[in-house]
Amino acid sequence: MDPVLNPYAPGAGTRPPALAGRDRLRENARIALARIKAGRAAKSVLLIGLRGAGKTVLLDRMREDAEAEGYQTMRVEAPEARSLPALLAPDLRLALIKLSRKEQAKQLVDRALSGLAGFVGAFKLKYDDIEMGMSYQPEPGLADNGDLEHDLQALFEVVGEAAQGVGTALVMFIDELQYVEEDQLAALITALHRTAQRQLPVTLVGAGLPQLPGRMGRAKSYAERLFEFNEIGPLPNADAAAAIELPAREHDVSFDPEAVAEVLRLTQGYPYFLQEWGKHCWDAAERSPITRSDVEIATEAALAALDASFFRVRFDRLTPTEKRYLRAMAALGPGPHRSGDIAQALQREVQSVAPTRSNLIKKGMLWSPSHGDTAFTVPMFDEYLKRIMPDDSGRP
Ligand SMILES: Nc1ncnc2c1ncn2[C@@H]1O[C@H](COP(=O)(O)OP(=O)(O)OP(=O)(O)O)[C@@H](O)[C@H]1O
Ligand SMILES: [Mg+2]
Repeated sequence: MDPVLNPYAPGAGTRPPALAGRDRLRENARIALARIKAGRAAKSVLLIGLRGAGKTVLLDRMREDAEAEGYQTMRVEAPEARSLPALLAPDLRLALIKLSRKEQAKQLVDRALSGLAGFVGAFKLKYDDIEMGMSYQPEPGLADNGDLEHDLQALFEVVGEAAQGVGTALVMFIDELQYVEEDQLAALITALHRTAQRQLPVTLVGAGLPQLPGRMGRAKSYAERLFEFNEIGPLPNADAAAAIELPAREHDVSFDPEAVAEVLRLTQGYPYFLQEWGKHCWDAAERSPITRSDVEIATEAALAALDASFFRVRFDRLTPTEKRYLRAMAALGPGPHRSGDIAQALQREVQSVAPTRSNLIKKGMLWSPSHGDTAFTVPMFDEYLKRIMPDDSGRP
């Protein structure tokens, strides 16, 4: 069918034609934010899931929902090796400048901007990736001690007072939260704990890989009580079918039930894969309804597209040693696997491959579902590795 009209949208963070199966989570977030704005207790919302599960698009949709309710939002993505102050400061400034346009609480907003100026000044040397200057006069002693845990807390408090004064809440949307260093994550948790205790309307809606809850728990043992960890998983059958069928239906195109069943089987309900299969089914079919044999043609193209993008960008970031480690895992199946079994497959001692494993966790390629277990963060990565490294010698 006409590729120009193709409604599907595979891609990192690409808005899907139909956001299937996430209404309950959006509603939960709406309630949490409304409670926080009203000064009532509510946990911060975190979205946890594998690569391609749909965290980013849900985070963005929650942000749109929040904007529509009149909250002040900001949205950042934590890249690897970037400090939290450098990540937050520019967007906090923007958010505060927007708040300052409302006349209600000019003094409180100005004080928050002074706090931010002190904060930026205090951390510019320590974190040399802060690339901004502040024209605001810092207030001596406010958020400028040089101790991140203390200063971030002080900063969030004045920011919270400003948002409260304006009659709104500041909602920080942070994607890829697992890349924030553990000591900085600890400071973030402490600061949010403080604003929660003082019932100030500042909160976080975050997204990250499955290692995030463990990292947060290690950073601060009370993190569990402060955050609601929502698992963003593959879509259940009815929702996965909707993700495939609804976009086509808008164009009066339908799928045979066997075709849908086959797409669900192949994709296991993973949103990224659903978009990729949807796209290629559409392109493969001559006419409506899309049949099971169209799915067969589409499958080859969908896999080729995934291999060239979704899987490829991850693979290209690996060292040869890391590739060998992952390939040995793939040979054992989709996982999770015991770390001892992987080491054995590599004919190495567990301790000698431990640094490789830990680098792969840091890079966000692996996570540990329980002590001594190791699993891929990219669904179906085992199959991909077997496709592109047919022998398991570690050479592509
Ligand atoms: N609920 C959904 N229904 C239909 N399609 C979805 C849904 N959620 C996500 N998608 C699609 O899945 C793909 C991946 O989504 P997204 O980038 O949000 O995943 P992610 O979890 O952030 O992945 P990563 O960990 O790689 O950043 C996109 O093409 C998006 O359009
Ligand atoms: Mg994402």
